[in-house]
Amino acid sequence: MRLFKNKKEAKRFKKILKGYASGGNPVSATHSFVKDFLNPQPDRYDLTYRYEHSLRVALWGKRIAEAEGWDSEPLVMACLLHDTGYPFCETMEEWNMHPTYGAEVARLFLEKIGYDEELTERICQAIRIHDKWNDVPEDATPFELSVRDADDLDRFDIMRVCMIGRSDIGERSARELIEVCENRQRTLTDWQDRICGTDVAKAFWEEKLQMRRQFYEALQAEMQGTLEMEDFLKKEQR
Ligand SMILES: [Fe+2]
Ligand SMILES: [Fe+2]
Repeated sequence: MRLFKNKKEAKRFKKILKGYASGGNPVSATHSFVKDFLNPQPDRYDLTYRYEHSLRVALWGKRIAEAEGWDSEPLVMACLLHDTGYPFCETMEEWNMHPTYGAEVARLFLEKIGYDEELTERICQAIRIHDKWNDVPEDATPFELSVRDADDLDRFDIMRVCMIGRSDIGERSARELIEVCENRQRTLTDWQDRICGTDVAKAFWEEKLQMRRQFYEALQAEMQGTLEMEDFLKKEQR
């Protein structure tokens, strides 16, 4: 696999990587590297979103590890690194490759800081499968599945509900929105079967689904109220 499409990409990556060496706190080094590499900027919301999403995924990873009684270090590092493949993606086809690219970025970084070889392998594999739904490899470990769980927990949290508000819900009539809500609620039922790496993540996942369900139920009730009010006013006129 060729990670760098051109010399400019390779040069930028090498320059960033140069600032890192073995020793020191691996979580802090990972955070600093991810921030350097994802490069959030005030006038580039796409870059800022990607970086802040990585922080939230790391928080979910920390929560899962702590609840499971695991050492949180490798999972937090894997979560921070999980989307570092995106800077290499421009087309939709490349976007689908971002877990593979991200695993390669993670490997180069973890080798540079001299991280434990076995943990490096586990982190890279977790990143490689983080975009899968229920088509995860049969032998995937709870650790490997947990990066994917942490990623989806952020993708289904309140921030995304707000983003859906813009794309899915904005500028639609009450009647159209009732249909959207019905469709979305059907999808939520399908998502209940999602495989999770741990019982802790499953409980968090059900919480997120419940939040979305309540959101669509409340929106649907509000839109039905709108139509009922119209009916009521029409009857009053007679
Ligand atoms: Fe991703
Ligand atoms: Fe992600």
